[in-house]
Amino acid sequence: MTRKVLVLPGDGIGQEIVAEAVKVLEHLRSRCGLDVAVEHGLIGGAAVDAHGAPLPEETLTRARAADGILLGAVGGPQYDTLDRPLRPERGLLAIRSELELFGNLRPAILYPQLAASSALRPEVVAGLDLMIVRELTGGIYFGEPRGIRTLDNGERQGYNTLVYSESEIERIGRLAFETARKRSGRLCSVDKANVLEVTELWREVMDRLAADYPDVELSHMYVDNAAMQLVRSPKQFDVIVTGNMFGDILSDCAAMLTGSIGMLPSASLDRHGRGMYEPVHGSAPDIAGQDRANPLATILSVAMMLRYSLGEGALADRVERAVGRVLDDGLRTPDIAAEGARTVGTRAMGDAVVQALDD
Ligand code: IPM
Ligand code: MG
Repeated sequence: MTRKVLVLPGDGIGQEIVAEAVKVLEHLRSRCGLDVAVEHGLIGGAAVDAHGAPLPEETLTRARAADGILLGAVGGPQYDTLDRPLRPERGLLAIRSELELFGNLRPAILYPQLAASSALRPEVVAGLDLMIVRELTGGIYFGEPRGIRTLDNGERQGYNTLVYSESEIERIGRLAFETARKRSGRLCSVDKANVLEVTELWREVMDRLAADYPDVELSHMYVDNAAMQLVRSPKQFDVIVTGNMFGDILSDCAAMLTGSIGMLPSASLDRHGRGMYEPVHGSAPDIAGQDRANPLATILSVAMMLRYSLGEGALADRVERAVGRVLDDGLRTPDIAAEGARTVGTRAMGDAVVQALDD
């Protein structure tokens, strides 16, 4: 049966990087027997410009019908002064929430070819392969009440609410335990249970779940310490599970261990394993339209889509191998290039990956 892939390039470099990932998909379709139909839709600032809303109804309807969604990035300075509900980021948060994509998998893998691009010493990061499982549809990002109010004394006050119900913690916990079980069997749950009641409950639920996964070794860490340990000795971690905001922060931190955030893919899954796939990086308006952006995170997101939503593990391996091969061949976009080294543009990098698929 032909599977539907909905492509949502979004804003900034989103257009360029997604175009390269689509080349990869098209090649797998025309040459490797992948039975997919690729369609395009609007999200973020691009959707605001065309339809006056960051997540048009039409996009949402098509997203619900898709077997996999590939997203570029959203946002740009020209949208920062819009009313909050019209901001591009709201479109991204809304699609995550509407599709109940609560399980965000963010792998941070150091390609040995890029060891020198990491800000950390090679021996600290060599062989790094960790997975952050971030809760994506709850916590302080979505908690009510929220807003900016004026107090009786005339001073304005901003407020947000950090809430997690047991069922929300349990479902992300189970995804994390399952993920750890398929890897080394080590899971570290990150919280701030010394201060926040909500994460005291988080810790309690994780401990309770551990009984169902005797093969997984569960540990707990406070988020401040986790941030420090990630840069001190990141290889102590295998799978990390944490809430929405802590996961947002720690995943950028983990990304940099690998040399460039331009290398990191992600999957956001619902409880049936249907998902949306996107690079961890943003829309990088400063380099948009210059053929400088690294398309590899988006191409690696296609690999995750093949593996998690389309049941095409062998093709996923093939895409990942092709990425490894172009790195072996020394191709580098500016973000992963050593000082003074020759670089290639977004399109040349995409073309090279497509070519490497056949090697
Ligand atoms: C991410 C991004 C988003 C987030 C923004 C763009 C809303 O930083 O996917 O990590 O905070 O989740
Ligand atoms: Mg982020």
